[in-house]
Amino acid sequence: MSPAGDRRPGGGRRGPARGARFQPEPANARALALEALALIERSRTRLVPDAIERLRVEERLDARSRRLLLELVYGVLRRRLTLDCVIAAFSRQPISEIESDCLQALRLGVYQVLFLDGIPPHAAVSEAVEALGSRHPGARGFVNGILRAMLREVNKTDAALDRGGASPRKRLPLSEGKVAFFSREVFIHPDENRALYLAQVHSLPAFLVERWLKRHDRAVVEGILLAANARPRVSARVNRLRIDREGLVRRLQSEGLAAGAGQADEAILLDASPLEAVRSAAFSEGLFYLQDEAAMKVARALEPKPGERILDLCAAPGGKATHLAELAAGQAEIVAVDRDPERLERVAENCARLGNRGVVPLAFDPVAHDPATALPEPLRQPFDAVLADVPCSNTGVLARRPEVRWRVSLDAIRGLAEQGHGLLARALSFVKPGGRLAFSTCSLEEEENGGVVSRVLVANPGLRLLRQEETIPAPGGPDGGYLALLRLG
Ligand SMILES: C[S@@+](CC[C@H](N)C(=O)[O-])C[C@H]1O[C@@H](n2cnc3c(N)ncnc32)[C@H](O)[C@@H]1O
Repeated sequence: MSPAGDRRPGGGRRGPARGARFQPEPANARALALEALALIERSRTRLVPDAIERLRVEERLDARSRRLLLELVYGVLRRRLTLDCVIAAFSRQPISEIESDCLQALRLGVYQVLFLDGIPPHAAVSEAVEALGSRHPGARGFVNGILRAMLREVNKTDAALDRGGASPRKRLPLSEGKVAFFSREVFIHPDENRALYLAQVHSLPAFLVERWLKRHDRAVVEGILLAANARPRVSARVNRLRIDREGLVRRLQSEGLAAGAGQADEAILLDASPLEAVRSAAFSEGLFYLQDEAAMKVARALEPKPGERILDLCAAPGGKATHLAELAAGQAEIVAVDRDPERLERVAENCARLGNRGVVPLAFDPVAHDPATALPEPLRQPFDAVLADVPCSNTGVLARRPEVRWRVSLDAIRGLAEQGHGLLARALSFVKPGGRLAFSTCSLEEEENGGVVSRVLVANPGLRLLRQEETIPAPGGPDGGYLALLRLG
């Protein structure tokens, strides 16, 4: 549940080894954005930072072009359904029949015209066509024609000047007080299908919107939808083993990074990008960990104390394990288990950077473990507290992981709920009588959250639910997620 912390300097996770003789060509931000979008679309698992690393963006673009590329890639991924509705309204060919590079170039052009200020619309269109390069001579005219037709029929204005009366089918609220009016119908009418209308305008899968509308008030759902497209805030956890909050804020200011206090005692909010934050000397010196405040609630709920034995069953990359260690003043024994040895290396890296010596990383899959064989030594004694921060659909953190919204499905949610159930049931077996157990996700889906906890409670009458909390994301607020605290006996 810690996408904010799952970052490396350079924006990427593990990628291909760097060839010593490879001299990448300097490139154009829009052309590289198209390549990145194509890579992500072809893969079910690749995340933006992986694509950025694979294309060697860091070496091929200067800082300004890199910022534009990230804006384009994240923006097009986020707004994909809305962009496709606009393209479909102006194209004679159905979206499903448009060749994939052309479709990405169209999305890039429409995104720039509608959602970016500062690029004159005609230039945005020409640049989207140019980004296609010479690979598709015939396609350039096709893309140019659709984008220019759209330009003739769209009017972007301040929302304050919107006098109402326009059909919702022709009106698109944009971010930051702007609205676009089209002279032809682009969206379905909300009276015909509200969930689909909201999905089209906010660019999310309709099945998710429909599920949220069944569980929450309309205003709450609109908050979730707006949050999914808002720029996520950058918050960090102060490493109080090394510095206090005021000291860190002053230290960051001395490095030119503005920061202020967050809500939790150990939280700060940064007015800087995550990349700027992880490039600071304060980061290298282990003075903070990038983590959202919703994620900080989890380790706090377990109330770790000096001298306790604590197990984190799904620990990588170590956001909550290192927080547990800090809350116990560095004097608890924390066993940080993860089944993925490569991800587990991040736990060791983070502990080394933060100066957390009490954390013991352990590559192990407790669910697949054969009970006939002995447990690894660090797991043989029961624990005072156990955390299961399980893999989930990430529907509470869609703003941070824009590619995720197009990969989530009902089947995936059900599968993840099963996986979460297996992990929570197994986590319970490591808790000593009277011990605490926390379960958390960054999902908003009931099956993955309360549904899992209820099943485990029913099967284990000795287990008590002390509290559960769902955080609903809102623009400018914390990430979404779920947390339950249980006690055995
Ligand atoms: C949501 S992430 C954990 C994030 C981490 N708690 C943090 O705060 O940085 C879920 C982790 O569970 C691990 N995982 C999934 N299934 C597992 C299993 N059966 N046993 C151990 N770890 C597992 C994944 O490898 C992944 O690293």
